[in-house]
Amino acid sequence: MEPLSRRSALLLGSLGLASTVMGVTGLVMTLARPTTSTAEPDLTYPPVLKSSAGRLDVQLEASHGPVQLAGRQASALAYNHEIPGPTLRIQPGDVLRIHLVNNLREATNLHVHGLHVSPQGQGDNAFTVVGPGRDFGYEYRLPDDHPPGVYWYHPHHHGNVADQVFGGLFGAIIVEDPEPISTVRERILVVSDTTLDPFGNIQQVSQMERMAGREGTLLLVNGQLNPRLEARPGERERWRIINACAARYLRLSIDGQRLQLLATDSGRLPQPLATEDLLLAPGNRADLLVTTVTGEAVLRATHYNRGVMPGMPGTEGSRVPGTEDNDSTPLATLRVAGKQAGPWPVVPAGSQRADLRSSPVAVHRRLTFGAGMGMGMMGFTINGRQFDATRTDTIASVGSVEEWTLVNGSSMDHPFHLHVWPMQIIEEDGQALDFVRRQDVVNVPANGRVTVRVAFDDFVGRSVYHCHILDHEDLGMMGVIEVR
Ligand code: C2O
Ligand code: CU
Ligand code: CU
Repeated sequence: MEPLSRRSALLLGSLGLASTVMGVTGLVMTLARPTTSTAEPDLTYPPVLKSSAGRLDVQLEASHGPVQLAGRQASALAYNHEIPGPTLRIQPGDVLRIHLVNNLREATNLHVHGLHVSPQGQGDNAFTVVGPGRDFGYEYRLPDDHPPGVYWYHPHHHGNVADQVFGGLFGAIIVEDPEPISTVRERILVVSDTTLDPFGNIQQVSQMERMAGREGTLLLVNGQLNPRLEARPGERERWRIINACAARYLRLSIDGQRLQLLATDSGRLPQPLATEDLLLAPGNRADLLVTTVTGEAVLRATHYNRGVMPGMPGTEGSRVPGTEDNDSTPLATLRVAGKQAGPWPVVPAGSQRADLRSSPVAVHRRLTFGAGMGMGMMGFTINGRQFDATRTDTIASVGSVEEWTLVNGSSMDHPFHLHVWPMQIIEEDGQALDFVRRQDVVNVPANGRVTVRVAFDDFVGRSVYHCHILDHEDLGMMGVIEVR
């Protein structure tokens, strides 16, 4: 369906709403429904598709049309007409086949963020272009020792990644634990932001917002505004949180509840770590255990200052308007009441990967992120160059371990993401880490630096690394790596 234009809305509005325009899907709903609802909806989840006998075959149709979003009818982008798209649950060793059907009016493709799979051919190939009206068959083979955890999928067609993710194209992927962790329930919380205009269309953004990295006025969990969750005290729940925002950082906390961090991205910690709050850069995930305590608790995102661009007003990471103290936004409300549950068995230790701190390093590299003014436009670069799909910026040998120093020469944070091969963080701003932390998105603070090591295991082929502020990626802050 076409986005609703202001002109047709006004025209139809003047004809007298309910009686005349019934049947114009989307429009009637858009105009007739209130834009905000005060009653909190119960948290809902997208459909779950599970692998069996080692495989999962799914079809994802990307289209533009009417969807339920933020408690109203909107006209947005969606996979299979829902935001988020279906949750895919698979096991290490599985073959995942995704038939992507592009019913958008522009090119798209698909990326399985964080999965350790081949970047070639029909695999997690960032260079595949699926034109409008076209389709493509992806096939991902997970190694038998693939790390369990929280992953996600989203488009990766250079130039319109931010528009498509902000428009509603994303979904969760869970790789199951070999040894289950006992909990009462699991909740997948896909956090996204977007802005809807009065007609329910996704708001276009300015060049200035692109340079800053767009942040929406609606902060959503599974496409809902401040949904309600219910539990009994003493219950242990598993929360899998995905930051699917195009550019917004999420500093999350929930009052009064007991939080234990199991993993960030696919990097399972040796022991669950008691935490009070956590910062998720765009693209990051958290795998959490929440042990509930009687009362009402609000999961909030507190404002995080990710820096400003010099000489540009109003580009500091924006606050969501209309919230209590304007500094924190409620994401969801948890009500805990009833009979006490528990206690819970000890969490089995996560399987540990090799600690790369003791690995011989084959190559040291330095990647410098730049956001500089040139010809009246911000240029977003890595090592002074903008993305060129035909150029290979980095060549690594399969089986080797490299050490990369990520240097941010700009006055805004950049969350650095490498496809296929996870990074182990070695040093942050001159401080060596004394434990193993593995992530696939690593925040490099404004004027700061981070050192990581990467084991180029298993796969050869060309892939990419980039800033996961998706506007920056679209503006050129991306490079090509070839492992051979
Ligand atoms: Cu989630 Cu290349 O990105
Ligand atoms: Cu990715
Ligand atoms: Cu950036």
